[in-house]
Amino acid sequence: MKLNIAVLPGDGIGPEVTQQAIKVLKAVALEFDHTFNFKEALVGAIAIEETGNPLPDETIKLCKASNAILFGAIGDPKFDNDPSAKVRPEQGLLRLRKEFGMFANIRPIKAYEKLLDKSPLKEAIIKGTDICIYRELTGGIYFGEKSLNEEKTIASDLCQYSKEEIERVAHLAFKAAQSRKKKVTLVDKANVLETSRLWRKVVTEIAKDYPDVSLDFLFVDNAAMQLILNPKQFDVILTENMFGDILSDEASVIGGSIGLLASASIGGKVGMFEPIHGSFPQAKGKGIANPIASILSAAMLLEHFGLHKEARRIQQAVEKSLELEITTSDISTKNSGVSTNRVGDFIEDFILHPEETNLNLNNIHLGQSTII
Ligand code: IPM
Ligand code: MN
Repeated sequence: MKLNIAVLPGDGIGPEVTQQAIKVLKAVALEFDHTFNFKEALVGAIAIEETGNPLPDETIKLCKASNAILFGAIGDPKFDNDPSAKVRPEQGLLRLRKEFGMFANIRPIKAYEKLLDKSPLKEAIIKGTDICIYRELTGGIYFGEKSLNEEKTIASDLCQYSKEEIERVAHLAFKAAQSRKKKVTLVDKANVLETSRLWRKVVTEIAKDYPDVSLDFLFVDNAAMQLILNPKQFDVILTENMFGDILSDEASVIGGSIGLLASASIGGKVGMFEPIHGSFPQAKGKGIANPIASILSAAMLLEHFGLHKEARRIQQAVEKSLELEITTSDISTKNSGVSTNRVGDFIEDFILHPEETNLNLNNIHLGQSTII
């Protein structure tokens, strides 16, 4: 398969983790005989610095001419600490989502066996957790009308949803549930919000098209509690934009590090694949950022194009790196861990020579080799 991939590394650790994902995709292309072309463009704070615009026209043009977008991270403390800044890096990401109609954001959350003790949650609670969050991504309070009065003392953000906006993401969530544990949980605040009541009504209707999938409802406050009290009760969580944003960060605690969580933003002509973590500016350039979220986002990109075998190989390589603790310090028991680049190299190597890599590592375990 031939794919043109737009690479938007962005800010902070974005470039260094994205570089590992590219390395891994290149290995996949070589091993499985595909052609992946990569072209880079600016987004976020770096784009503001260089062009004054967090999403320059050039970037939009490149994305439009591509099959998929590989996104790094955006954000810079310069802007976080200045609430009056009119131009902000996040606008680049939000515009990109809106412009390309990426209405569904898919965020898988898994408790890896090897990392059970990395989570502050008890092993018995998280063991076996496998959740997929379907977050609506182009509507709700994020995109509703915003206002601030002249005195700058009263502000508002409108939360609005249409039936169609709810339907299209709900269908995707139900379809996903069909090939999983066949359960959708709609998270809302229907005891207070009109938009949530519309979500319940529309989703209940849609559920009739999927008789093999069960549907239940949770208020978001309760869902926040249930997620860490008993995460195994969940299969697919379907929710609106802001609830999905908050719950997915909370759920990342289950996996042991936010540095592991990948996401896909789909629905429009071009899908975007990105880690759910931010730009972690304190770690920039230090080689300590965990590249797994970005690498697993590359696997989601391949899945999106039906390249399941290839995606599976990446997942296996990641699992192997966890098993052998070739990991960055956030999830390593050895205090230092290995570098971002080293994790990428290992995963690349495993993709190209799974047997050999296994063999060498077994030898290392026996103290017979220092090849790797
Ligand atoms: C995310 C991020 C973004 C969001 C920010 C950077 C605008 O937190 O992708 O989860 O809130 O959607
Ligand atoms: Mn977020």
